[in-house]
Amino acid sequence: MRAVGVTEFGGPETLRIVDVPEPHAGPGEVRIRVHAAAVNPSDLALRAGMRAGALRQPPPYVPGWDAAGVVDEVGEGTGGHRVGDAVMAVVQPFGPRGGACADHVVVPAESAVPIPAGADVVAAATLPMNGLTAWLALERLALPSGSTLAVTGAAGIFGGYVVQLAKAAGVRVIADAAARDEDLVHRLGAYQIVRRGDDVAQWIRALVPHGVYAVADGAVLDERVVPAVRDGGGLAVLRGWDGDPGRGIAVHKIMVGTAARNTAALDELRRHAEDGTLTLRVARTFRPEEAAEAHRMLEAGGVRGRIVLDFRD
Ligand SMILES: NC(=O)c1ccc[n+]([C@@H]2O[C@H](COP(=O)([O-])OP(=O)(O)OC[C@H]3O[C@@H](n4cnc5c(N)ncnc54)[C@H](OP(=O)(O)O)[C@@H]3O)[C@@H](O)[C@H]2O)c1
Repeated sequence: MRAVGVTEFGGPETLRIVDVPEPHAGPGEVRIRVHAAAVNPSDLALRAGMRAGALRQPPPYVPGWDAAGVVDEVGEGTGGHRVGDAVMAVVQPFGPRGGACADHVVVPAESAVPIPAGADVVAAATLPMNGLTAWLALERLALPSGSTLAVTGAAGIFGGYVVQLAKAAGVRVIADAAARDEDLVHRLGAYQIVRRGDDVAQWIRALVPHGVYAVADGAVLDERVVPAVRDGGGLAVLRGWDGDPGRGIAVHKIMVGTAARNTAALDELRRHAEDGTLTLRVARTFRPEEAAEAHRMLEAGGVRGRIVLDFRD
């Protein structure tokens, strides 16, 4: 079957259409005919070989954390899934079965849920992985209603979902934004907006002198955002920062793979997309053979909304 992958790590030009064996659903698994696969920052890292040691598959390496499409095989013991269901799924590209950028992908049944009613399949592909990451960050930070959360990278997909989920949970959100993103971040539900950048902690402190209850660090500022957090607060980091923030601040290393089988969370995200709590944002679609261009666009920065590869015929 067709997939997008690399046999050698490198720049976007290393991405090729590759032919890989068609997978089949084993017990407890479903196979999805992929219609849409989102392109995430982690895919750039996989392609470049930045996490080569974590790959548990032979080459070609196929990226992709998010798939949406139609179930076309169900293994034994997969509960409610039926052939023909339109689903979205979180996929683990570093695992033995590879990623979502392929004509078919096999996932544990728990990792797939119906796409949100009213959403098209391309938009649905933007939700599972980052939605789950945002959900996980908020679960770990355990913010009481009425507390204040600061979000960096708020115009991004993770950041945007955090802003929207936190607001829905009654949390007061301070979000960073470049001038051109202020309207977007405001619409997402930020209560107050601060100028983005390495000195963002200073602007957050200016609004909350004792520091915020927690920070969700979508911009991966790590130690640069620590001063924004109050003594004893929390910091959700997305790329494994293992520094010591001091002052009793708890660092939560978010790894979405740990929640990949959390069907209840995926269903909750689906419902939030249906009731308008979450906004699904698509920047642009590309054909699989244009994957290199898609990676170049994401790598250049400034993309608002997710880039999606369209695998439909
Ligand atoms: N650990 C996990 O399980 C997990 C899961 C999901 C995502 N992640 C990671 O989380 C990060 C965010 O993912 P995403 O999908 O939300 O990416 P995204 O959509 O590209 O959003 C990142 C946002 O941060 C902004 N940004 C970049 N550098 C910044 C800086 N120095 N100061 C302020 N803002 C800055 C970007 O703006 P520009 O576009 O203008 O640069 C963009 O708006 C990525 O590093 C991703 O790999 C980790």
